[in-house]
Amino acid sequence: MTGGRRDKVQSIRESWIATAIVIGVLLVCVFTFMFPHGFFTPKSPIQIRRTDTPNVQTGTCESPEHVNKLEADIASLLETNAGLKKRLAEQGQDNTQKQVMVLGDQHKVGPFGTVKALRTNPTVVPDESVNPRLAKMLEKVAVGKELIVALANTYVKDMLEIWFTSIKRVGVTNYLVVALDDQIVEYCKTNDVPVYKRGPEEVIDSVARSGDAHAVSGLKFHILREFLQLGYSVLLSDIDIVYLQNPFDHLHRDSDVESMTDGHDNMTAYGFNDYFDEPIMGWSRYVHTTRIWAYNSGFFYIRPTIPSIELLDRVVDRLSKQPNLWDQAVFNEELFFPSHPGYEGLHAAKRTLDFYQFMNSKVLFKTVRKDDKLKKMKPVIVHVNYHPDKLPRMKAVVEFYVNGKQNALDAFPDGSGW
Ligand SMILES: *[C@@H]1O[C@H](CO)[C@@H](O)[C@H](O)[C@H]1NC(C)=O
Repeated sequence: MTGGRRDKVQSIRESWIATAIVIGVLLVCVFTFMFPHGFFTPKSPIQIRRTDTPNVQTGTCESPEHVNKLEADIASLLETNAGLKKRLAEQGQDNTQKQVMVLGDQHKVGPFGTVKALRTNPTVVPDESVNPRLAKMLEKVAVGKELIVALANTYVKDMLEIWFTSIKRVGVTNYLVVALDDQIVEYCKTNDVPVYKRGPEEVIDSVARSGDAHAVSGLKFHILREFLQLGYSVLLSDIDIVYLQNPFDHLHRDSDVESMTDGHDNMTAYGFNDYFDEPIMGWSRYVHTTRIWAYNSGFFYIRPTIPSIELLDRVVDRLSKQPNLWDQAVFNEELFFPSHPGYEGLHAAKRTLDFYQFMNSKVLFKTVRKDDKLKKMKPVIVHVNYHPDKLPRMKAVVEFYVNGKQNALDAFPDGSGW
């Protein structure tokens, strides 16, 4: 009896345990079905970012389809994770991160003499929406995403003829005149010269009509911006320039700005160590300075990069606040002055073009025409920037270099003759 009772109690106990196990298994299955990602589904991006492999447990009673679905869920979570990481990197948490993005991965430094910093900045993503009409025109005119651009109004019509004739002569087709008045538009059209005029909605017309050379100079930095935003490199050119070779064959394209110089020899063009003398200081009377003659803002090649556009914006901004400043002086200050208290300098890469190839009129009239060896070398361009009698000197340059008239330059004084 006792034994039978014990057996009965045991079997009741066992059936209770069996029932409990069955209920437990059922509960697990129900919960696994209702919450396949567990109770604490990671929802915020931060949790996703931290959890490289989401912790999803599969129950014992998963069907194969369910397992597949869970695997797909994991894959999509990982994808979201990678996407978020990428987006965060693109947004850039700080300047350092931006730098890393520009420079690529961090590197160990190589052996002595093998280290070279980056100087060629990446180009911007073209944005056609800033000026669809200009974008269409540039698609036709530009070659290799680059072109010569010059601003012109009626006052420079005679020089403009020499300018575009010389460009056509050297076989360059990728050039564009930004006309500042309707007469120039007509003049260019009759001479088969690519021309672009801004719409009447633009504010430039009053500046253009004034004929003020300095106002036009400030304007060109403003107009240039759109060309760069559209993704084009621009060889900005004044009109008082004669082209003797294709300039695009003589650029380096390694810098944000490649400019001709107002310098006249190796030192002044490319930079030198000059000293300032203060005798009262005795032993330390000489203080060394770093000097370079100004870059000529009438002829420079500018690549569509962030530093380039920042340069244009800085120049435009300063000229709009102080209109009597000389645009070339502002252009140089923005390019060269380093960061200092209260001022953040521009970080643009720059290159001085060869002053014999991209020749200013001081080099030509003071040096080259008197030197038998230099006389025989043909420059890429001659810019009559140092002399007010521009038209006759431009004509003389054509006579000398194009028509071979050996004495064409002789009649002119070295300077302006006053
Ligand atoms: C100027 O520099 C060039 C190249 O760097 C060199 O060949 C030439 O001799 C230099 N001229 C003078 C006058 O030092």
